[in-house]
Amino acid sequence: MKLNPTHPSRPHGHHAYPRARRVATPGTPAGASNRRARATIGAVCLAIVTALTASASPATPADVAPEPTQAQKSDPIIMRGRYLVEHVGLCADCHSPRDEKGAFLRDRWMLGSALPFQPMVPMPWAPVAPPLAGLPSMTEAQAMAFLQTGQRPDGSPVRPPMPPFRFGAEDAKSVVAYLKSLKSDGGASGPDGTQASLAK
Ligand code: HEC
Repeated sequence: MKLNPTHPSRPHGHHAYPRARRVATPGTPAGASNRRARATIGAVCLAIVTALTASASPATPADVAPEPTQAQKSDPIIMRGRYLVEHVGLCADCHSPRDEKGAFLRDRWMLGSALPFQPMVPMPWAPVAPPLAGLPSMTEAQAMAFLQTGQRPDGSPVRPPMPPFRFGAEDAKSVVAYLKSLKSDGGASGPDGTQASLAK
């Protein structure tokens, strides 16, 4: 903090620091309230850093999703679906299993998972996110309708926490094409693990 240059020795404290005087309550020296404010700012900064660190780990699906195969890369509809699944819908958050540290199992990508969380109040709830790789449980037409309405083929609404997505027809088609292009048995791991579970 700069001292008023015309009062380098601060002979009139209340002129140099009018704000501090105004907020100080009787019996509370301005210095103490400034120290408290600094401590509060420090605590808030620490909380923000802690929150950022916590949310950065475990990695987001986009960081760990297997690299697309050449076959996938050559199909723009599949690549659009991959973008929607990994960067917009974050489907792997629920549909991909993790190890005991919370890291995704890359060779089990999108093969379904028991959810690691549950609601705090009673509500309709599905505790398991089924496998999506290879789209094992729905026809392409059923899955497209489901992603546009949130309704299962039998007309029943999907249960939370699965979001009742309202993808447009083109996007639903892309998501379905991408899920279809994932190998439903997890596939064999490549030497670097990146091609695991992907094939066409
Ligand atoms: C917050 C967790 C969560 C996210 C995110 C999520 N899902 Fe789900 N999903 C579930 C759960 C749980 C179910 C089971 C719902 C039920 O049984 O009613 C489910 C069911 C499904 C089904 C029906 C499968 C079947 O066999 O019945 C499909 C298809 C599906 N999800 C696709 C997706 C896609 C595609 C995305 C991303 C665009 C996605 N989900 C994102 C949790 C999630």
